[in-house]
Amino acid sequence: MCGIVGYVGPKKAVPILVQGLKRLEYRGYDSSGIATMNGEGPIFVHKRAGRIREMERSLPSPLPSTSVGIAHTRWATHGPPNEVNSHPHLSSDGSVAVVHNGIVENSSTLKKMLRSEGVVFRSDTDTEVIPNLVARFYEGDLEAAVKKALHLIRGTYGIVVMSTAEPGRLVVARNGSPIVLGVGDDEMYVASDAPALIAHTRQVVYLGDGEVATLDSDGFRTTDLEDREIDKQIDEIDWELEEIEKGEFPHFMLKEIHEQPRSILRGLRGRFEREYGDARLGGLNLTPREFFDIRRITLVACGTSYHAALAASYVLEDLARVPSNVEIASELRYRNPIVDAKTLYLAVSQSGETADTLAAMKEVQRKGGKVLGIVNVVGSTIARQSDGGIYIRSGPEVAVASTKAYTSQLLALVLLALKIGRMRDVSAGEGRELLEALEALPEQLRSVLDEGEQAMTKLAGELAHAPFVLFLGRGINYPTAMEGALKLKEVSYIQCEGLAAAEMKHGPIALISDGTPVIFLCPMDQLHEKTLSNMEEVKARKGRVIAVGNPGDERVQALADVFIEVPRTHPLLSPFLMVAPLQQLAYHTALQLGRDVDKPRNLAKSVTVE
Ligand code: F6R
Repeated sequence: MCGIVGYVGPKKAVPILVQGLKRLEYRGYDSSGIATMNGEGPIFVHKRAGRIREMERSLPSPLPSTSVGIAHTRWATHGPPNEVNSHPHLSSDGSVAVVHNGIVENSSTLKKMLRSEGVVFRSDTDTEVIPNLVARFYEGDLEAAVKKALHLIRGTYGIVVMSTAEPGRLVVARNGSPIVLGVGDDEMYVASDAPALIAHTRQVVYLGDGEVATLDSDGFRTTDLEDREIDKQIDEIDWELEEIEKGEFPHFMLKEIHEQPRSILRGLRGRFEREYGDARLGGLNLTPREFFDIRRITLVACGTSYHAALAASYVLEDLARVPSNVEIASELRYRNPIVDAKTLYLAVSQSGETADTLAAMKEVQRKGGKVLGIVNVVGSTIARQSDGGIYIRSGPEVAVASTKAYTSQLLALVLLALKIGRMRDVSAGEGRELLEALEALPEQLRSVLDEGEQAMTKLAGELAHAPFVLFLGRGINYPTAMEGALKLKEVSYIQCEGLAAAEMKHGPIALISDGTPVIFLCPMDQLHEKTLSNMEEVKARKGRVIAVGNPGDERVQALADVFIEVPRTHPLLSPFLMVAPLQQLAYHTALQLGRDVDKPRNLAKSVTVE
């Protein structure tokens, strides 16, 4: 959602800030702005509603030659997305500028207090109280003033503060909204997400909740709100700039779909114990005894991550023989969950910032449960809040519609299932068989994707005008049906539903009439025969059967109006191959309908509000 960028150093700040904001565009926003200054000010503020390029185009020429600045992309919460409400916000005396992600819950009380002291508020935002509090508390030490202000604030924040009283300095603080510092040579960067920094430095520091950092061109110092020094480790970003650039692809979504062979390979690298048919996963922080004692696994997630978790629950039950259930995070968090010591909780999140997932995991932890994070973004809030976990290593995902993270999440969870399974009923031979099938996946995926491009473009032409599309699957491909439906609806805006195939006859069959497209996931597994019966039922009602199946499946081929072939694999791995053409189909349908594929309407990449 909202994005933050800041810079202090010898270079011109404005181009760095604008470029950084553009790298965060994918998060979703509706206005943007920058604040910079030279020497003792005044602070130059420039903001616009709409796209960053509008804000950039309207900048004065020549650009102010400043070497310190802060910038923001806003996704409106308090007050409409207009110029006044966009960040940065200034104190009413103009001395302090702030960008803020998060929510100041007690802003109305604070506004009342500040108004009584003569402060005039210009915007409808909660944020505007922060620069005014900092200005009020300033007595010759910006860091101290920020800390005093934060002591009064209830809510969540990632903030960057700049003041005319201490030019060449930024004060940064975090509580619940991500902040990463970038360490350069005689310069410092700050952002809400690493993609905004990577063009300048790979050396980063992830700020924790309750931490404050003061940056100037010589470096940074970190303390807590009580002024105790904190020693921070400098991490190295382990992905490349090209990964957040489209390269030869017209859209990030298409690029990320085609990256899957590579992201799967990356997720597998170094994670095999070939000889023992086992998975090697560092970072779980579970003793062998704790592994042994797991009696239940509860996965918690939202959206696409929920679908990956649901598919994984089948694998966990099959391989690990541990009862597994999946909870929608927003439901779990308010349900007063019954937490017990022998249940292992898994929070699954690409961004690691989803508010509902984070709140659900905190609720479980508060009750003494152990939660592992299955996360993509290194150093994200969920990764930090976890008691251990697995990084899925899919690389940065920029398109709002999640594709490569889905298969990488599933991969990490399959490896975990194997690891638990190998402590129980899975033999070394069975483990090796699964590992071999996993190793073959990248090549198989590549061939599915290569062949799928043309076929899915053609099928998209047909689906683009359908008012409704139904996706059906059974067993481990029931979640694939749900994910296929979510993908198509979110980027094309076509009404879609993904169901367990047998559920169709309990109601949704009423929706099927002449030509209704019904997409079946039908691998040659133990449920093949059953899915075929459901196909017959659709055929009998003149529905249009589109089937994703395996080569040589003559019965499905004979029934289907359109047959999409994907290679056979281990029965537990079929979702990896079945979902790929559905992702391509969603992309091409959206494209043909002229949708904004990478930024579908109303959606944000990470949902950091309830
Ligand atoms: C859909 C999509 C969302 C996310 C959901 C959870 O394509 O991306 O449904 O999966 O918002 O996000 P994370 O995984 O970041 O917790």
